[in-house]
Amino acid sequence: MITAIVGLGWGDEGKGKIAHIESQNNDVVVRYNGGANAGHTICLDDDIFKLHHIPAGAVASNEPDLVLTHGVVINPVSMVEEIRQLRRSNIDIADRLRISDRAHCVMPWHIAADVRKGGKIGTTKKGIGPCYADKMHRSNAIRMGDLRKKLDDERTQRFFAVDETFHGQGLWQQYKEAAEFLQPMIFDTGQLLRNAVGSGLNILFEGANGILLDVDFGTFPYCTSSGVGPAAIPQSCGLPNLHLDRIIGIIKCYATRVGEGPFPSEIITPEDEQLLSTCMSESSWFKHTNRPYPIAAKEMSHLIREKGNEYGTTTGRPRRIGWLDLGLTRESVALTGTTEIALMHADTLAGIEGIKMYDDGSLIDIPSYDLDDDIHFRTHFVGKVNAYCGPVSMYSYGPDASEVCLL
Ligand code: IMP
Repeated sequence: MITAIVGLGWGDEGKGKIAHIESQNNDVVVRYNGGANAGHTICLDDDIFKLHHIPAGAVASNEPDLVLTHGVVINPVSMVEEIRQLRRSNIDIADRLRISDRAHCVMPWHIAADVRKGGKIGTTKKGIGPCYADKMHRSNAIRMGDLRKKLDDERTQRFFAVDETFHGQGLWQQYKEAAEFLQPMIFDTGQLLRNAVGSGLNILFEGANGILLDVDFGTFPYCTSSGVGPAAIPQSCGLPNLHLDRIIGIIKCYATRVGEGPFPSEIITPEDEQLLSTCMSESSWFKHTNRPYPIAAKEMSHLIREKGNEYGTTTGRPRRIGWLDLGLTRESVALTGTTEIALMHADTLAGIEGIKMYDDGSLIDIPSYDLDDDIHFRTHFVGKVNAYCGPVSMYSYGPDASEVCLL
């Protein structure tokens, strides 16, 4: 069985939890896009793991093999820190982690460029865009397979000297140590994955970010710099004939977004809306703002943010809050080929009066629900998503990995 997990929104849908649960049934778990911009949170009993590069399968008890393909951009220093953090919780992944020799390295100058230029988009400042840009530009790019050698080049050392002037000494040494540490984990992951598919292993592809942040299909230019959906998997993994049996699309019962960019169903006041329409006037997404307002008071977004702990895993930024957008979700389902939907954070909206969904410019009232007896939730909430977007196969009602109801 080959499965993909993909976010149907702008990231932060709760993919980490579902990826963790699904990892238990898989032999190999693969990350194929993005880098340390992603933040997958997994709550297991009393432990909370926040992973950025490493697939959520890392903490699964069946210990699947973990693969980072050449579609991922890797900050070697923070990658080593993630491995060490897991070790502190007695999870050693060194023997089962495979990193593509073709994956590009995020270098200090990529982070510096992102900090300087990423403000307009509201990037995570992890150097993701500049690293992918260098990959396409080619001449200054460094891949994991070449990192050790390239670090000794005079040219690379000149680059480090400039960055060390601003960011302190010792950067080069940190990269050198990380390169040595990661060296035994570097492989031709395309070959490994073709063998795994050929042998009929169960494989899970864990998408980072969300399809609305996809560089081609997302809210460009307010998006990330990689392909996010299953369409990116064959190219990013070296699996040209890949057939996916299941594509699980993850979406919350409401919507969130961090960073700048259009957010049609955002819960905002009229003043906010005017401001937003000025930033979006050149975007094709502008049409989505043609809707009645005010949608709701700011207190509603505050309530949902606090109840759902909607603060960025990677940057700690408060997330913007909106209603579940049925029209956009339908589009996301089509763009990702989603075969089943996982609805997250059902508990966050439980007990709140005045919840809504948004579809093509109008707001739909949804009766409030209580999860002690989930009949109203199943009928009105799940029923609407089933009818408008596609089959819902599970819903999540709490942060812990055990708090999932299969439908
Ligand atoms: P970048 O990926 O750091 O270049 O950021 C580009 C945009 O994508 C910004 O608005 C980020 O906040 C957003 N973004 C990137 N990755 C994630 C994610 O995993 N979750 C939520 N937003 C993300």
